[in-house]
Amino acid sequence: MNRNGQWWDDAVVYQIYPRSFQDSDGDGIGDLAGIESRLDHLVWLGVDALWLSPIYPSPLADMGYDVADHCAVAPELGDLYGFDRLVASAHERGLRVLLDFVPSHTSIEHRWFREHPEYYVWADEPPNNWVAAFGGPAWTLDEATGRYYLHSFYPEQPDLDWRVPEVREAMGDVIRFWAGRGVDGFRVDAVQQLMKDANLRDDPLATTPFLLPLGDEYGRLDHVHSEAGPEIHVALEAMREAAGDALLIGEIYRPTRDLGPYLEHLDLAFAFELLHAPFEAKRLAEVVREGAAQARVAWALSNHDFPRLATRFGSGRAALAATLLMTLPGPTFIYQGDEIGMVDGPGAHPPFDRAGRDPYRHPMQWEPEPRGGFTTGDPWLSLTDPERVSVARQRGDRASLLELYRRLIARRRELSGPVDAQADGGAGGSEGRRCGCRPRRRFVPQRGPPRESARRSGRTPARTTPRQPPRDS
Ligand code: NOJ
Ligand code: MG
Repeated sequence: MNRNGQWWDDAVVYQIYPRSFQDSDGDGIGDLAGIESRLDHLVWLGVDALWLSPIYPSPLADMGYDVADHCAVAPELGDLYGFDRLVASAHERGLRVLLDFVPSHTSIEHRWFREHPEYYVWADEPPNNWVAAFGGPAWTLDEATGRYYLHSFYPEQPDLDWRVPEVREAMGDVIRFWAGRGVDGFRVDAVQQLMKDANLRDDPLATTPFLLPLGDEYGRLDHVHSEAGPEIHVALEAMREAAGDALLIGEIYRPTRDLGPYLEHLDLAFAFELLHAPFEAKRLAEVVREGAAQARVAWALSNHDFPRLATRFGSGRAALAATLLMTLPGPTFIYQGDEIGMVDGPGAHPPFDRAGRDPYRHPMQWEPEPRGGFTTGDPWLSLTDPERVSVARQRGDRASLLELYRRLIARRRELSGPVDAQADGGAGGSEGRRCGCRPRRRFVPQRGPPRESARRSGRTPARTTPRQPPRDS
């Protein structure tokens, strides 16, 4: 599949972690109305789209990636009416909206787990040596049935079985539900976990280190059977069918060279080798070259799962890293707060996330005051250092990181052409250049017929309500 000439080809997408972006009602938890109230920051910054980490009802064992109802909004974040308003406000401002679609597992509190146990993977005894990504066995005894269920992540996240046609249909309905509400696309969670070995064979011990960081226990095995199964196309075809023309961007936690089969159905896939690359010229050039060769990778230097950019590289290198990120070819993602150089926070005790990721999820720092302009109440997770780092302090200061991001995004519109990633191996001896110059198409919201590409491919857009999302002109 190749869909060139799409709005996301060189888009800048801003990742919002909803609980930590902006609180509107003083309960200390970021919410949809809060996001809506800050859309003008994103317009000012110049991004094209926003991606919302999960907004669905959830018992929060994995902070929302354990979804209890795919077609609703968590009450502390808002409701469907507020969601529709947010999408409309974003579209009015020329911003696209991407949701997080979590297909590989549900919350154990999802009603399907009891009403449709056949949607999940069961065994009388643990049938193999698979381990969960966060550690511990991937099989847990369900006291109610006396049987074991499979979970690639926390035990509170039973894996769905995408070989079951009803699962594909039900999850397709989820995509259609949101696409029908005007969503422009989906970041698809943990795609490598969708299809496992049909015979549930043991994973062998790892003999070489995986190219991306893994948990200690998970990294001891070579995940040739517990993930990345050859029938992945069965799941992805169903997803594509439901998504129609909407953007599907895969979170596939595999080396860039393995992304080919996924890109046959998805539009984009994150290049995690860049996110984990050390700040060394040679390695950066390698990962950029490899990603550019795949043609449809999306770039990011941080997200809610890993240490923040300014912590990993050092605050002194945040500006250089921003320059790299904003001049790469193809779509690129900014994680909220990176544009002002936020660093990892202290987390919480006891932690919200058992895998230790609270430090990367502290609230956004808008104002130089103790609650950071994030809330008027008690923030669910403390603020890190709003007096030192905030949007208000940096806006208007030409020397600030925030203003640099803004200039880079504006200049990025003038860049196009092939990438020339060279490395001489010396410090600072690499450059990733984009050549040529062309005016870039801007997104103009309007009502209208399906996009040209959808008509060409014969695919009908997955819109189930008469409301039309904005279209390219
Ligand atoms: C990837 C998400 O980014 C992460 O936060 C989550 O824990 C796992 N997938 C499981 O859904
Ligand atoms: Mg709130």
